[in-house]
Amino acid sequence: VQAESLEDRCQVSPYACQRRTPLAHKNQVLTEALETMAEEARFCGSEGRSLAFSRAASVLKSLPWTVRGVKELHFLPCIGEHSRKIIQEVLEDGTSTEVENVRQSERYQTMKHFMKIFGVGVKTASQWYQEGLRTINDLQAHHAKLGKAQQAGLLHYRDLNSPVKRSEAEAIVQVVQKAVDQFLPGASVTLTGGFRRGKPSGHDVDLLITHPVEGQEVGLLSKVISWLDSQDFLLYHSTHRNASQALEDQELSVSMTAMDRLDHCFSIFCLNYPHGSIKGGSRAWEPGYELKDPGDATLWKAVRVDLVVAPYSQFPFALLGWTGSRNFERDLRRFSKHEKKMVLNSHTLYHTEKKIFLSAASEEEIFQHLGLEFMPPEERNA
Ligand code: CTP
Ligand code: MN
Ligand code: MN
Ligand code: MN
Repeated sequence: VQAESLEDRCQVSPYACQRRTPLAHKNQVLTEALETMAEEARFCGSEGRSLAFSRAASVLKSLPWTVRGVKELHFLPCIGEHSRKIIQEVLEDGTSTEVENVRQSERYQTMKHFMKIFGVGVKTASQWYQEGLRTINDLQAHHAKLGKAQQAGLLHYRDLNSPVKRSEAEAIVQVVQKAVDQFLPGASVTLTGGFRRGKPSGHDVDLLITHPVEGQEVGLLSKVISWLDSQDFLLYHSTHRNASQALEDQELSVSMTAMDRLDHCFSIFCLNYPHGSIKGGSRAWEPGYELKDPGDATLWKAVRVDLVVAPYSQFPFALLGWTGSRNFERDLRRFSKHEKKMVLNSHTLYHTEKKIFLSAASEEEIFQHLGLEFMPPEERNA
């Protein structure tokens, strides 16, 4: 009877989009160990291995109980041999020597350090490591060939690695709404990403802009960016235009990634603190900001902001795609492809056998098309 009930409560789907994953879960120690392994694998360029550890961690995040023995793992999906070994070590000894060795290794620590610089990925970080560079100072002393993004990343390293609070994200929403209102009244600005999933803080602010009249949004992003720039709100920005000529070729548009099909901008905002309040002080940011010259660094903070513009008909897809988590998104697409023969991205849902695009007026309708139970954003923290 006991084995049966264990098997019963282990009816866990291998797809994150079929698992409810709240922000707070019951297997923190285990998931942290597995995520360190996933990170280390990614630093080595082993995407497959990284994904395996990441999936194992994601499954544990969805469990409504704390895993106490390896027996409980037999019925769970996505827990490979290596993950099971790590979990067993942590369950028995409280910590895994393999994970601890990774955490203490010079390569892992250096890679982690370098990749905290905005604009630096695995390739650049490992190249620097191989050249013998170890610290930010080394970069400045030995290296001049930094890209524009990396230069900005280095310049604002400290700010960009201090968590963005919800109050700060809401202040950014107000600034962007104000910019948007000037060029296109009626356009909306929606907070997506981790904040929409209920996270109290994040590494950036993800904003999705749309207008209820399809087509009105065309050209909006560049106007908004220019205005924000003219008001000294931007410390860095890099805009990517939607390749609109490709719209005619539906097949091509399906094969393109989500990112390529929506106007978006990766930026660094200069968030001014309200009069009398200083960065790092006990007072949280509150509405009432002023436009200031970013001279005194105690009066402002650099904040990473992703801006995305979607035509109204694509808004639900963009909202679903930009809310995350990354594990949730990856499995939504995997589920669509393998279980439903559909291609889902941040702007469309395409049925590959019927050869039709499925429209949706809300996130709920997309879940319906996929035959999935609706999952509220707070339960997408896979
Ligand atoms: N995204 C994307 N392409 C990128 C960056 C982000 O499609 N190059 C989408 C992803 O689908 C992701 C969402 O934007 O789910 C949010 O990504 P990100 O800001 O990196 O992560 P968050 O979940 O918001 O977490 P954090 O609080 O750390 O920002
Ligand atoms: Mn984010
Ligand atoms: Mn983001
Ligand atoms: Mn792009």
